[in-house]
Amino acid sequence: MRKKRVAVLISGRGSNMSALIEAAQARDYPADIVLVVSNTPDAGGLARARAGAIATAVIDHRSFGDNREAFERALDEELRKYRVEIVCLAGFMRLLTAWFIGRWSGRILNIHPALLPDFKGLHTHRRALQAGAKRHGATVHFVVENTDAGPVISQQSVPVLQGDTEETLAARVLEVEHRIYPEALRLVAEGRAKFPKPQAEIKNPRV
Ligand code: GRF
Repeated sequence: MRKKRVAVLISGRGSNMSALIEAAQARDYPADIVLVVSNTPDAGGLARARAGAIATAVIDHRSFGDNREAFERALDEELRKYRVEIVCLAGFMRLLTAWFIGRWSGRILNIHPALLPDFKGLHTHRRALQAGAKRHGATVHFVVENTDAGPVISQQSVPVLQGDTEETLAARVLEVEHRIYPEALRLVAEGRAKFPKPQAEIKNPRV
């Protein structure tokens, strides 16, 4: 089967990006990471991607002012230039508009450091500790318009241990992230995890 062409979108250190790049080096992995895009020029992950000889692009959102759609059009153009088929968000800190999500519907994945639907949004580890959660974890899901609300592809939990700090808990969750993101991308690239289509219209039975 032909490998799927994948772009990873980052804003920071890019450890999930690295996990995807590493997984994609295996001969039998069904996806190639053909492009890494950052919305900020100082993302640590850019250097890591370059070291792995992956094409990189910086599309700095600040140069588009408040015009989110212009930023996304530039992003979309870059993705099309590389004939990208699947987009993986990996610590990408920009909210995407309905326009972009609609254009890439069913083909954008995100990793979230919590067991969705619990703890959507930011500071998930802090909030899990504050809530006294016994288990925490990570989720890979398809991206839909509502933040962190799309269909789950893969999810794994870790225990919350006595004496955990945000940092120790984050480190335990991150290990899981690095495992489930490559697995989830494999499922999508092989067509084994599909974005649910809207329910087909139920026709009136013939009488
Ligand atoms: C990860 O915890 C990811 O779940 C969240 O942002 C963090 C990014 O880390 N969305 P990295 O840049 O992949 O190291």
